[in-house]
Amino acid sequence: MSKTKIVIIGVGAVGATTAYTLLLRERVDELVLIDANKGKAKGDAIDMNHGLPFLGRTKVWAGEYEDCRDADIIIITAGAAQKPGETRIDLLKRNVAIFESIMTEVLKYNHDGILLIASNPVDIMSYFSWWKSKWPVQRIIGSGTLLDSSRFRYLIGEELGIDPRSVHAHIIGEHGDSELPVWSLANIAGTRIPFDEETKERIFTNTRDAAYEIISAKGATYYAIALALDRICTAILHDEGAVLNVSTLLQDYHGVSNVYLGVPCIVDSSGVREVLKLELSESEREQLHRSAQKLKELIQSVEV
Ligand SMILES: NC(=O)c1ccc[n+]([C@@H]2O[C@H](COP(=O)([O-])OP(=O)(O)OC[C@H]3O[C@@H](n4cnc5c(N)ncnc54)[C@H](O)[C@@H]3O)[C@@H](O)[C@H]2O)c1
Repeated sequence: MSKTKIVIIGVGAVGATTAYTLLLRERVDELVLIDANKGKAKGDAIDMNHGLPFLGRTKVWAGEYEDCRDADIIIITAGAAQKPGETRIDLLKRNVAIFESIMTEVLKYNHDGILLIASNPVDIMSYFSWWKSKWPVQRIIGSGTLLDSSRFRYLIGEELGIDPRSVHAHIIGEHGDSELPVWSLANIAGTRIPFDEETKERIFTNTRDAAYEIISAKGATYYAIALALDRICTAILHDEGAVLNVSTLLQDYHGVSNVYLGVPCIVDSSGVREVLKLELSESEREQLHRSAQKLKELIQSVEV
């Protein structure tokens, strides 16, 4: 069997936690860390290597862009983190410039891997990466609303005293302020979730604003996103066909086209194999259109 390899570009809070998660779960044979701050990547690689006697087979090193050559997955978590009070959209211009330089390097060495984008605003950075790479759309995946859906399922489960893994509920649209909860399809074993409007509103608000709450408490969010990225990598590496709410280019999705947004997708070794069309209510459809419109305007503002 050929070796599996993941490269992580941007080894800050999210990148390093993702690397550590992949290491603990022994997901790959080779894990390469790249950061503009070479000392950080080197220090993290040494630190993780010192844990290998307690783990197993993964080879970890601080690398260069040449290491992208035979990578199965390249995860991009580089960029500026959200500052307290700053919206994800405020980050846009700073991160587009960073991505321009990263993508130029990656594309010199890799032509057939899968790019997994987590940097914010993630839907726009994913769209930019697809546009810049000219790769087939299924191989450029944004982490989308997978984390938001996970927060949503956790909060619903907590309210009901039910394991969040048994809660089926989706957040779709932008990973950010215009995202929407699909309450019309939320269920537990096919039964409707018995919340009044006030409870629904509270749970969705806590889901949507979770990042702001965590960032104001400790400066960054990284554990749950690392697990979400690990989940996507596993679906790809094991050719699972798992349904995950990742960000992909929508084409006539309830009338929405030419924008990356988070929706349920079937993810396997080809990347996003298929987009699943949820049966949305009229008001959910309208909210999805508003989310798409917001992102299109932002994409135009950076002239992609
Ligand atoms: N998608 C999600 O659900 C989600 C969740 C949490 C954070 N994020 C986003 O992930 C990104 C990273 O967040 P963080 O908290 O790890 O930030 P961080 O500041 O801790 O780390 C960013 C890293 O990127 C590196 N970097 C900057 N420019 C680079 C370049 N040109 N090449 C290589 N490396 C470069 C920095 O040196 C730093 O180590 C942010 O955009 C953040 O908003 C996304």
